[in-house]
Amino acid sequence: MPVSTADIASIVNQTLKQYRPYKGFAFRSPAITVTGGYCVNQLGDILQELGATHVLLVADKMVWQLGLVSGCEAAITTAGLGLTVFSDVEGEPDSAMIAQGLAALKTSEADFVLGVGGGSALDAAKAIAVIGDYQGPLADFKVGGLASRRVGLGAIPTTAGTGSEVTDITVIKDLVYNIKVPIKGPALVPDMALLDPALMLGVPAGITAATGVDTLTHAVEAYVSRQVNPLSKAYAYHAMETLIRALPVAVGCGEDMDMRYDMAVSAYKAGLAFSNAGLGLTHAIAHQIGSRYHIPHGVANAILLPYVMAFNALCCEAGYAEVASALGVSRESMTQRERCNAAITAVRQLVIDLGLPTSLAGFGVVEHDLPQLAEQAMQDICLIGNPRQVTPVQIVTLLEQVLSGEFPEGYC
Ligand SMILES: NC(=O)c1ccc[n+]([C@@H]2O[C@H](COP(=O)([O-])OP(=O)(O)OC[C@H]3O[C@@H](n4cnc5c(N)ncnc54)[C@H](O)[C@@H]3O)[C@@H](O)[C@H]2O)c1
Ligand SMILES: [Fe+2]
Repeated sequence: MPVSTADIASIVNQTLKQYRPYKGFAFRSPAITVTGGYCVNQLGDILQELGATHVLLVADKMVWQLGLVSGCEAAITTAGLGLTVFSDVEGEPDSAMIAQGLAALKTSEADFVLGVGGGSALDAAKAIAVIGDYQGPLADFKVGGLASRRVGLGAIPTTAGTGSEVTDITVIKDLVYNIKVPIKGPALVPDMALLDPALMLGVPAGITAATGVDTLTHAVEAYVSRQVNPLSKAYAYHAMETLIRALPVAVGCGEDMDMRYDMAVSAYKAGLAFSNAGLGLTHAIAHQIGSRYHIPHGVANAILLPYVMAFNALCCEAGYAEVASALGVSRESMTQRERCNAAITAVRQLVIDLGLPTSLAGFGVVEHDLPQLAEQAMQDICLIGNPRQVTPVQIVTLLEQVLSGEFPEGYC
């Protein structure tokens, strides 16, 4: 039977659609990364290299009030670039804040958006740069699709935690549905990330601890993600290796520039790892409890991570055994199970040592809320990477443990 041109085209299209390279992956990162103490002084040159003419600087309000943005402002104006400052990022960003920032972008006619602050300010800047004129609920973006933007985008983190300066994610609270929505897409990867540890020297101990454990959570979840790739694994491993040494010192001795530098680079590496490999159940639940009970993101992760590791261990004992090596708690004489347990114990101990909470008690969580939290966590895109399949009932059981602070003895 003769095969028509249309038949051939159809077969080719089908094949292209179904074709997935074996173990294939794409890895995205910022075009330019600049690091080092006081490297903010190089900002003007880099922005010129990226073709910026007018910058909308989106800053955390507190960071701006502390004067930490003045070096950026000076570098931008000295380079002869236009500058508009939007310094109204207060707390974790929501849809109303993004609408205000979008208005500032339109009025200023800026061609480059630069976020300066913790993950909240960076996420706000990313959303302002990418969402454009969209008027509907943010939840519409849940499944991604943000592939292009019309303005340049840069990020200067002032906390070492989220890795937002490299990731293809922004997390915005949708006030229509009252949930935190992680929005994902290639356009959200900044063109430039600038890591200046001098901007982090004054971060209070509690915030250093919480944001640092966010970094650890990114590394651990990416390392055992279902979608992990060799580059993400390498970045996550190195992030953990550095963090376990640097974080306690950065919390106890905030002005140690070397440890702040190491933490900034750890956050960056863990960000690269998870942006390209996904996260897991800890983040899927953290987004829900963070939004509902106003628990800072890093604190929510610190509470949940050991419990989620105990739950996931059934499916990724070998992965956690390698995490134990990265954290320096693995010994040659140990069995795989002992290494896995050593990793979980090390994470629990770190949370305790840093003075972070170990249960949800005292945050206003009641048993009655748990089924709804579980249903919402099941919808969170971060769950896709989780190594163990999970049901709403299992999430409720896990949350009951976290609420009571009773840590499971086996792999629950
Ligand atoms: N985009 C991503 O890939 C990603 C990943 C993880 C988390 N997040 C999101 O990031 C947000 C949390 O970011 P965060 O943990 O960095 O906290 P944050 O940005 O909310 O900052 C926490 C506090 O630290 C203060 N602060 C920041 N820098 C400071 C400095 N140098 N000195 C003194 N105070 C300083 C801020 O004013 C704020 O009060 C959450 O909304 C979370 O969901 C995003
Ligand atoms: Fe996070």
